[in-house]
Formats: sequence, structure tokens, C-alpha cells
Amino acid sequence: MEQLAETKLANTEITGLLGDPVEHSLSPVMHNRAFQELGLNNLYLPWAVKEDKLAQAVAGIRGLDIKGANLTIPHKQQVLPHLDELSEEARLIGAVNTIENQAGKLIGHNTDGRGYLRSLQEEADFNPAAKKVLVVGAGGAARAVAFQLALAGVSELYIANRTVKKAKALIEEINKQLEVTGKAISLSKERLAEKMERLDLVVDTTPVGMYPQTEVEPVIPADLLHSDLLVSDLVYNPQETVLLQVAKKKGAATLSGLGMLLYQGVIAFEIWTGKKAPVKVMREALEKGLKRNT
Ligand code: ATR
Repeated sequence: MEQLAETKLANTEITGLLGDPVEHSLSPVMHNRAFQELGLNNLYLPWAVKEDKLAQAVAGIRGLDIKGANLTIPHKQQVLPHLDELSEEARLIGAVNTIENQAGKLIGHNTDGRGYLRSLQEEADFNPAAKKVLVVGAGGAARAVAFQLALAGVSELYIANRTVKKAKALIEEINKQLEVTGKAISLSKERLAEKMERLDLVVDTTPVGMYPQTEVEPVIPADLLHSDLLVSDLVYNPQETVLLQVAKKKGAATLSGLGMLLYQGVIAFEIWTGKKAPVKVMREALEKGLKRNT
């Protein structure tokens, strides 16, 4: 019996999350539950890694032949020079959230944007090709989502941000790389109102409405929302943010941020194991973990 356990341990494939902080991350429960469901001898660990230790941590992945890792704040951009190859999305977005160790070669992927796209398809039955889309926010999450939507062939892409020059910089980069006709706009009600009527999808990538500050004004004024829209919020705690509540009242379809969190993990799992991820149990693990965190 003991011998069996030792053999099992010797063959365990390790994966984990490099970030700072990592203790509230739901990725360990999601991935470990998925490994268990498929009977895989894999383990996913949270690794708290300070910025100045990232190079050593990545060297550790090579040295220990660790199967793969996720990256979160503050490492998603800083990790780029330490990797051997980048996927197309990771190169365009300029950030990596998943490392795949392919026989000693470290490949950087970005599954955030792809995860968002998959949640749009799986959970809202929404195909962004030839659609008119507004992304609110111009930070890291907006970058992943906007590039991925541009890759998916949206017909019009608008980025609205409190600091307009950040939206301009992002849209210019997307226009240059992908020849999408996008525009930056301010978050003023007048500017939003001009566009909103014709849109198919609005994605809020800002933290507005996130626990514990859930009782706030939504970033898009309620009276601009309409029933032909899909309104999507990347916040997953709570699953129904103030924006999604008002969108529902206006008859719009809604999509919570839990799907993006889930599917970025699903895609990472599939990269590491080559197996179809058990999506249902991964979602249940996330929901259970969220309840514990609030
Ligand atoms: P993330 O990596 O999650 O995208 P981030 O890079 O800090 O986080 O970006 C947060 C985004 O939300 C930014 O676009 C920010 O706007 P600014 O560029 O003007 O800072 C936006 N944001 C944060 N709080 C906001 C608020 N209260 N109202 C409107 N936008 C907000």
C-alpha cells in the first residue's frame, strides 16, 4: 500500500499558479477537482511568487520539468522574455496566463481571451463574427477580450474608457495588428448613447460592481440598455452584478464573468492534459469556492 502511494507520488504531474497574491485564487480547487474527476495523477498548487523571483520560478519549471503553470498579477507581461515561444493570441495580447512545458520548451498561451469567446458561445450562444461590440475599460482584461473579439471577426469595435487615451492606445494597436476598424470613445452618456442603439454586445471589463462594493451605479447608464443587446460583465463575484440586474430589467440577455474564469481554466486544462475538460464539475468547484470566499 505504502509502496503504491510512493509510486503514485513519483509520477505526479505538477501544475500551479504563479502570482502575488494567490491565496484567494479559485484555480487550485477548479483544476484539482477536474484532475480527480478524470482520475488523473496531477496536482495544481498555488505558488506565491514576488516580482523579483519570477525568473527563478520559471527556471524552476524547467529544472523540475513541471508540466505547466498559470500566471496572474503581477506576472502576465513580465514572463514573456523567459519563454521559448508564444501562441498567436499571447503575442498579440502581450500577456501570458498559461505556460505549457512541451518536453522542455516553454510555450506561452493566453487563454483569457479564448476563454471569454468560449463562454460567449457556450453560455450565451453568441458568435461575435460580424457583430458590433463595445468593450468598456482598457486594462489587461479589456486587452485580452478586445483582441480576441477582433480576431473573431467583429464588424465594429468600440472601446470606452474613463481615461480615453488608454482606450485610444489599445484600439490603435488592435487596428494596426488586425486591420479592424475600431474607435475609442469616452464613457460620457452622450458618446455612449450615440453608439448603443446599434450594438449587439457590451462587455464591461472594469471592476465596478465587484464584491464587496456591489451597490454602485453601473458603468453603463441603465436607460441606454435595450432588449437587442447581450450585456456581459467580467466580474464573477457576484455573478449577477448591478449592471446585469439592470440589463435584465431592460430585457437584454446577460452573461456573468464566471464563464470566462471557467473557460480560461478549461482551455489551460486541455493544453496540459490533452483531454477534454470536465466542465460541469469545474463550474461546481468554482461556485463552491466563491461561496467560501464571500
Ligand atoms: P484588469 O487587468 O482587471 O483589466 P486594470 O488593468 O486595473 O485591471 O484595468 C481596470 C480598468 O477598469 C481600467 O480601464 C480602468 O479605467 P482607467 O483606465 O480610467 O483607470 C477601469 N476602471 C476601474 N475603476 C473604474 C470606475 N470606477 N469607473 C470606470 N472605470 C473604471
